[in-house]
Amino acid sequence: MVKVNLGGCSSFVNDADYKTYVQKALAAFDTLQNEDGAGNDFLGWKTLPIDITESLICDIEAVRDSWKAKGVNLVVVIGIGGSYLGAKCAIEALSHSFVRPADKPQVVFAGNNLSEEYLAELMDLAKTCNTAVIVISKSGTTTEPAVAFRIFKEYVEQTYGKAEAAERIVAITDAKKGALKTLATQEGYKSFIVPDNVGGRYSVLTPVGLVPIAVAGFDIRAMLKGAAEEREALLVKSEDNAAVQYAAMRNLLHLENGKSTEILVTYNPKFTYLAEWWKQLYGESEGKDLKGIFPASVTNTADLHSMGQFIQEGSRIMFETVVNIEKANRSVVIGSDEQNLDQLNYLAGQHVNHCNAMAQLGTKLAHIDGGVPQMEVSIENINEENLGAIFYFFEFSCGISAYVLGINPFNQPGVEAYKKNMFALLRKPGFEAQTEAILKRI
Ligand code: PA5
Repeated sequence: MVKVNLGGCSSFVNDADYKTYVQKALAAFDTLQNEDGAGNDFLGWKTLPIDITESLICDIEAVRDSWKAKGVNLVVVIGIGGSYLGAKCAIEALSHSFVRPADKPQVVFAGNNLSEEYLAELMDLAKTCNTAVIVISKSGTTTEPAVAFRIFKEYVEQTYGKAEAAERIVAITDAKKGALKTLATQEGYKSFIVPDNVGGRYSVLTPVGLVPIAVAGFDIRAMLKGAAEEREALLVKSEDNAAVQYAAMRNLLHLENGKSTEILVTYNPKFTYLAEWWKQLYGESEGKDLKGIFPASVTNTADLHSMGQFIQEGSRIMFETVVNIEKANRSVVIGSDEQNLDQLNYLAGQHVNHCNAMAQLGTKLAHIDGGVPQMEVSIENINEENLGAIFYFFEFSCGISAYVLGINPFNQPGVEAYKKNMFALLRKPGFEAQTEAILKRI
């Protein structure tokens, strides 16, 4: 279960203001629960943890098992934005950082950039491996994954033959429309559906996240269980509801204390991509109508040696939300040294995690002294259940928070602007008029 600690904000806000914002968050909670707010046709994510059927889970596990039987040791997951960040986050968090177990494939990501070197180097890897591909695009028309898929489809067909390629490609897309749907039907790929009423950044608990996470060898049943338990806890309308508290405090710090930036802080590099996922969730949900809190992130203690200076003494624009992990899953104890040249014997017998916890506490106090309010969002340890819980927690609190700000959390009109210019510059048929106009500007 996710816990929220607001203690590090108490010297920056007064009780009466906090209570006012809790009331606003409770009203937004009602809007979310009554499904009568803006974007209410995109609320399918709310019940995903209990809606995913046993037969869908078995279907997903069957892909994992069939690729295992073929000896697949590399899975290329093609997608961008909400179509890759959740899976990337979970796989980074749950995997060994350095050693890949022999019984699990390496899972890599493509289609989230247009770098030629990236694709060429990934192809170098694919050529040394037994490769399968998962292509994910809800719209089925996004340029970056479409380019990567065209290249990998050709590679897989040339390497394994067309019939075998169809066994090695899984498509995750809309039930009815889009180029990827048409292609998947025509080529006979195993397909999974992204529900109509779930937007990309809320889709980690649909096949978009679940298929890559399961294929990587992780327990999606446990992840859904954790999310379902978190959902139960967050359904209770109360001032103690963790999502209400988080949404209330971040809006109070933004709207009354003038903080324009929220930094999600982790002290474990395994959670660097949790922050990337969170940034998309909050950035795309809230950053519109000239409003919103800019979502940033740091991974400490590394970033205390780069961004730490700014956070301590730079312009006072930010507050921090620390994702606190209560227990380490592994144990490394610092030894004693007879010579003690490094003068670390005072730490002999201590766990490295104890040093990490003291760095975290010391930083909290220093940042509060420096004018940076700090919240903590805690889980017990990193595992599938707690990841499911934190995914659900941040999604639910994002819905509440955006409604407090008066924003539709479920659309993203701004992401189209660059695409129109890019299509015009690439001379995509149908964009001729824009090409003329844009060429005059450059
Ligand atoms: O959250 C969103 O809706 C977006 O980030 C999309 O996930 C992203 O643009 C990819 O879209 P698609 O899955 O349609 O290729």
